[in-house]
Amino acid sequence: MSSPPPKLPFSDKYDLDHARAYEEKHRSGLRRRLTTWREIALARRALRLAGDPESVLDMPCGAGRFWPMLAEHPTRRLRAGDRSAGMLETARAHADPALLTRFDSIGELDAFALDLPDGAVEHILCMRLLHHIARPEDRLRLLGELHRVARRGVTVSLWVDGNLQARRRQRLDARRQRTDVNRLVTPRATIEAEFAQAGFRVRRHFDVLPGWSMWRMYVLDKV
Ligand SMILES: C[S@@+](CC[C@H](N)C(=O)[O-])C[C@H]1O[C@@H](n2cnc3c(N)ncnc32)[C@H](O)[C@@H]1O
Repeated sequence: MSSPPPKLPFSDKYDLDHARAYEEKHRSGLRRRLTTWREIALARRALRLAGDPESVLDMPCGAGRFWPMLAEHPTRRLRAGDRSAGMLETARAHADPALLTRFDSIGELDAFALDLPDGAVEHILCMRLLHHIARPEDRLRLLGELHRVARRGVTVSLWVDGNLQARRRQRLDARRQRTDVNRLVTPRATIEAEFAQAGFRVRRHFDVLPGWSMWRMYVLDKV
């Protein structure tokens, strides 16, 4: 029997109020709206590179920021999961009813122990989760689960080093001497070695704003 999924310190904060605030946050302020617009544009490119997959799991889906883009492919079947019931409720409430008919399932799922069969979807979109995971063994468990459920590949996003924002963040964390960080910068060399260990090959990466932003998206193929 496999061990219980790890409990991340941040995972329980997404109650309904927090979920609604998260949804609003991404639609407010010029900088946030530009970042969201750029992330969606890059995810669209990532999926094209991944061969326009016929089925995609959005995991964790949060408030469903990527759903309209995922549904642009006219015959693609969709699944979405998140550990937070509040996030799922918020995502459903903001989605067009026609869009919801494109989903085979939307439900509570733990990313470390997905209640889905092997190869359930062609591709998985895993945005903004890895940068919350500090322990290498937990990142490997997540990557292993994505590898099991995706037939061909996955797209992930996280914070990486080698840019202005990461240098600032690392200086700030050092000054605060924080040990309870729930979001962290992972060195590119570390995460790329972990991708290989989990059985993925990097097809391509995209930086949200090259040289400046910490956000990087990786398009990974199963080896
Ligand atoms: C920063 S949000 C990102 C949501 C979405 N991918 C996006 O980019 O808008 C992180 C999400 O991870 C979810 N989450 C936290 N721990 C999780 C876990 N163990 N399994 C699945 N989802 C989890 C939270 O409920 C939250 O919706």
